[in-house]
Amino acid sequence: MTLPAQVQIVEVGPRDGLQNEAVILPVETRARLIELLAHAGLRRIEAGSFVSEKAVPQMAGAAGVLASIRLLQKPRLAALVPNVRGFDAAAAAGVDEIAIFAAASESFSRRNLGCGIEESLGRFAGVAAAAKHAGLPLRGYVSCALGCPYEGEIELGRVTDVARRLNDLGCYETSLGDTIGVGTPLAARRLVERVAQSIPIERIAVHFHDTYGQALANIFACLEVGISVVDSSVAGLGGCPFAPGAAGNVATEDVVYMLHGCGVETGVDEGRLLEATRFISAILDRPPESKVARARLGSEALSRRPCAPNASSA
Ligand code: HMG
Ligand code: MG
Repeated sequence: MTLPAQVQIVEVGPRDGLQNEAVILPVETRARLIELLAHAGLRRIEAGSFVSEKAVPQMAGAAGVLASIRLLQKPRLAALVPNVRGFDAAAAAGVDEIAIFAAASESFSRRNLGCGIEESLGRFAGVAAAAKHAGLPLRGYVSCALGCPYEGEIELGRVTDVARRLNDLGCYETSLGDTIGVGTPLAARRLVERVAQSIPIERIAVHFHDTYGQALANIFACLEVGISVVDSSVAGLGGCPFAPGAAGNVATEDVVYMLHGCGVETGVDEGRLLEATRFISAILDRPPESKVARARLGSEALSRRPCAPNASSA
């Protein structure tokens, strides 16, 4: 068995996590979360998205979030954009990286993006051209890579096709999203092996939601076949407003604990990461989903109110 010596964690909590919360957090709070995650050593953080405020009101004000971040050493901050309008706003706000998000399921694409897969890839071609022109790195997502909330099982060929198209558009990395968290380790590994026939494995990342508690096992199975970039979310926050019933992303704390326990470097300081967990759990007024955070923080996670602006109801 071979594991990579190092794994890059892509922290998606400020975007995938907060987009699914019932409350809309003030931009200063979202910025503070990003600062704490950066203090913990996370070098790649998804800061928000530049999408329709009607579709995802929780992500409104993403430019304000970016403007409010105060850090001497900034991590690479990415933002999700659905079209060129989103790209223009993200670029003007000073993001370091653009993320585009297609789906392997036609039904999910229509609900999430208001158009089918083919049309979405056409829009993303415009974003890719703009990103190239601006010199901004482009990352891609394939949602519903292991199942769709509307169509059920998705053929591997469909996932591979969309991943290859994103790669061809210029994505330096494509993240395979188990949007509804139904995957199991052998299915996850088969998926990666199949996509790796079309895209070099170094350009593939994995993105597991943890609805059925399989995410850590899935990640481990993928690391064994050469994956070394993993998306995760502080406190296990997350979900997609267009994937009903889906749980949060795998918790960053749990991924980091597993990796460090296996001798794999991440650059993340586990103690400092818990500061971010404590902060956001207190803001949201509920315990973290992360097992590691629960074990380490216990009831303390909720007993201290942080010095930060409070959440306001949506
Ligand atoms: P639409 O309704 O089909 O099309 O939305 P539209 O062009 O008529 O736009 C609707 C409204 O949005 C209009 O405003 C536009 O001006 C505005 P109105 O006239 O009604 O006042 N609009 C925008 N506003 C701000 N920024 C923009 C923008 N574009 C249009 N960039 C659209 C199409 C794509 C805009 C919409 O469906 C949308 O924003 N979708 C985003 C959905 C989303 O963010 N989903 C969650 C992220 S995906 C995810 O979580 C999965 C992932 O984690 C991986 C995984 O887990 O698998 C990445
Ligand atoms: Mg997701």
